[in-house]
Amino acid sequence: MKKRVAIFISGGGSNMVSLVRDMQSGDHPAEPVLVLANDAAAGGLKKATELGVPTAVVDHRPFKGDRVAFEDALQAELDKVQPDIICLAGFMRVLTEHFVAPWEGRMLNIHPSLLPKYKGLHTHARALEAGDAEHGVTVHLVTPALDDGPILGQARVPVKDGDTPDELAARVLTQEHVLYPAVLRRFAAGDLTPVYL
Ligand code: GRF
Repeated sequence: MKKRVAIFISGGGSNMVSLVRDMQSGDHPAEPVLVLANDAAAGGLKKATELGVPTAVVDHRPFKGDRVAFEDALQAELDKVQPDIICLAGFMRVLTEHFVAPWEGRMLNIHPSLLPKYKGLHTHARALEAGDAEHGVTVHLVTPALDDGPILGQARVPVKDGDTPDELAARVLTQEHVLYPAVLRRFAAGDLTPVYL
């Protein structure tokens, strides 16, 4: 039986596309069953539809900061498709323990830094400001603490002289598209050995 995967997005969904394409590329231990966005304008929704993956939207705004009610609405969408694994892929809402605890060990996130460095936002600018020679991306299991949890994979990129945050972000994103599918493939097969690229 293939593992059923739900992917959460907020924007363009390029990581979601790389995950779905890999799952659809033949022998894979998982299949995509839902792409869920917190914004109906998320560009990734159209891409998911084009790839033949069902979509749902739970807009966080009507909940007016009631995170538990928002999370219950997310869970209600999941209940319809019964996923085994959640992949957060550029999902820009913080999830509380209320949602995370029941999914612990079954929910992955991709974060554009070499964790534990640079949790939170603006990771590329922060790596440049720090003068780091190397930057990268991490896939980790989600725990209630932000951008924390056991590391399932990391990919490194060089920081080049004169890099802007956007140039560095683009270099990292290319590696995100390699790392996340590699980690999911291994994780869905039951292997938690980290992938290092
Ligand atoms: C990625 O850099 C991801 O790591 C970050 O948000 C970006 C999402 O890009 N958290 P996309 O929506 O997958 O194209």
